[in-house]
Amino acid sequence: MSNETDIRENVSKAYAKAVEAPVPESSCCGGPAQKGFVVKLAGYTSEELEALPGEAVVNAFGCGNPLAFSDVKEGDVVLDLGSGAGIDLLIAAKKVGPTGRVIGVDMTDAMIEKARENILAAGVLNVEVRKGIIEELPVEDASVDWVISNCVINLSPDKGKVFAEIARVLKPGGRMQVSDIVVESLPDWVRESEPFYNTCISGAIPEKAYLQGLRDAGLTDVEVLERIKYDASQVKGLIESELPENAKAISCCGVPEGVTVEQTAEVLAGDVWSAKIRATKV
Ligand SMILES: C[S@@+](CC[C@H](N)C(=O)[O-])C[C@H]1O[C@@H](n2cnc3c(N)ncnc32)[C@H](O)[C@@H]1O
Repeated sequence: MSNETDIRENVSKAYAKAVEAPVPESSCCGGPAQKGFVVKLAGYTSEELEALPGEAVVNAFGCGNPLAFSDVKEGDVVLDLGSGAGIDLLIAAKKVGPTGRVIGVDMTDAMIEKARENILAAGVLNVEVRKGIIEELPVEDASVDWVISNCVINLSPDKGKVFAEIARVLKPGGRMQVSDIVVESLPDWVRESEPFYNTCISGAIPEKAYLQGLRDAGLTDVEVLERIKYDASQVKGLIESELPENAKAISCCGVPEGVTVEQTAEVLAGDVWSAKIRATKV
């Protein structure tokens, strides 16, 4: 693929399209999985989801619930990398309460706009969204108690920089807890394909490399808290619902002629999973 700026631009365009896409009337009955599908696999409780504006839920493109099993407490400062339409910002806002603060960073204007609408609709006053890239966070050194992120770091063309930025912005004793896609091995045509990059697959790295990257950045107590392994139908759902356009677009860009989403999902099943990863700054 092309250089880092081009990769980010492609990702940003793809997610602007995804958030601007209409909400399907129904995503049942055997058709392609629609936006809003992934949230069902992510491990949110029904209470968490029912308390949120519908537009935050249906525009969720995460692959886990990074705040589950965290001991985020009242008064904490939480930073969400690639905060999208704001689902985890709003869940964090509730946990930190009025004495805490939540900051989201995202590079896509349409996502930032949607997140701000959702923040307004939820009536929370302790959440702000900043425009920026996660490789150069617009956040002060040693200023946050928690870094969370949901299915975003896999999209970064420079994960080493992101891990270093996490270590920079955390306060001593602060924690990182992210949900992200990791992969075991990918065929070259998937690794090199832009549509699969944007669906959080081609840019993903092996779990071991992810954990080592965090250690190399100086973080400690690096561990995997949970794995959500995807079967073929779930990989298909991830591809189709992260970016519904991609279901049509895979017959381009290096994907062998005639290969369908279903066939790709069969190939990838078992080699792609969502991991919840925790680390600490000493
Ligand atoms: C898969 S979506 C996840 C959104 C959100 N975390 C959620 O759970 O719904 C990826 C988001 O990360 C943002 N993003 C991707 N790469 C980024 C980067 N390098 N810097 C800043 N934002 C990025 C995209 O704009 C998009 O909003």
